[in-house]
Amino acid sequence: MRHLMSPLDFSVEELDKLMDLANDMEANRAKYAHACEGKTLATLFYEPSTRTRLSHEAAMFNLGGNVLGFSSADSSSAAKGESVSDTIRMASCYADICAMRHPKEGAPMVACRHAAIPVINAGDGGHQHPTQTLTDLLTIRSLKGRLGNMTIGLCGDLKFGRTVHSLIHALVRYPGIRFVLISPEELRLPSYIRADVLDKHQVPYEEVVRLEDALPKLDLLYMTRVQKERFFNEEDYVRMKDFYILDAKKMELAPEDMYVLHPLPRVNEISVEIDDDPRAAYFKQAQYGVYIRMALILTLLEIEV
Ligand code: NCD
Repeated sequence: MRHLMSPLDFSVEELDKLMDLANDMEANRAKYAHACEGKTLATLFYEPSTRTRLSHEAAMFNLGGNVLGFSSADSSSAAKGESVSDTIRMASCYADICAMRHPKEGAPMVACRHAAIPVINAGDGGHQHPTQTLTDLLTIRSLKGRLGNMTIGLCGDLKFGRTVHSLIHALVRYPGIRFVLISPEELRLPSYIRADVLDKHQVPYEEVVRLEDALPKLDLLYMTRVQKERFFNEEDYVRMKDFYILDAKKMELAPEDMYVLHPLPRVNEISVEIDDDPRAAYFKQAQYGVYIRMALILTLLEIEV
């Protein structure tokens, strides 16, 4: 039985197959409409979510399957003190596959040790968010036609942003990737990722504070929200939250073919005035999230269509 804890759980070749399947699902929805009939997905969400939970659920519905679960720790027995390992044992009785989001790093890993069903890590604290990474890879491959040979700007909360951490792990496996890390000093990418991932793979990167300095040289800009819930005090958050605001004026500095991605939710870091810019790809990205999760569910359940 296979789980998804980190984007590295799939080889580059397996990821290609997964993305091909997602593209086929987009083109031939009807072919897959009954693929998961009689199967149930449990969504165990101990932390807020809109896209990740709903896109897993939409994916399962699109495959003809069923969905059950909870959307906050308060509404589950976690509020009574139940452990993750007991909860996953229960979910294994009710469902065939589960997606878990948890504020604690490593909680889905604990779950998969006690699970009788495949577990998908739907975000664990500031650590990893592999299904967002699958979404991002599919989006980049679909928009740019490739995954290597490009300069990618990662902007915002690089310290706590788990989507950025997972994406870096996944992208360093492709040739010709360069990163421009754009963040305030306090929210720099953790040194363990710089050393253990970027330096180890000899991936070139530079760190800058001003978004304007980076924009002209990017093939892709990945914006992120300042992760309010991971700050230890409100004052620091308030000081950081509007550090970057991508607006129409700044977009004038960017190449014509530089797409803007964002895992969403956005707060203020992307002005709504650029939503209609053809380079703004974040809503399209959310749509790709459904197709890649359909492909993931089918693959983990080992169902062939
Ligand atoms: C991200 C997350 O939860 O880490 N959201 C998402 O799943 N699309 C990004 C965020 O919350 O900022």
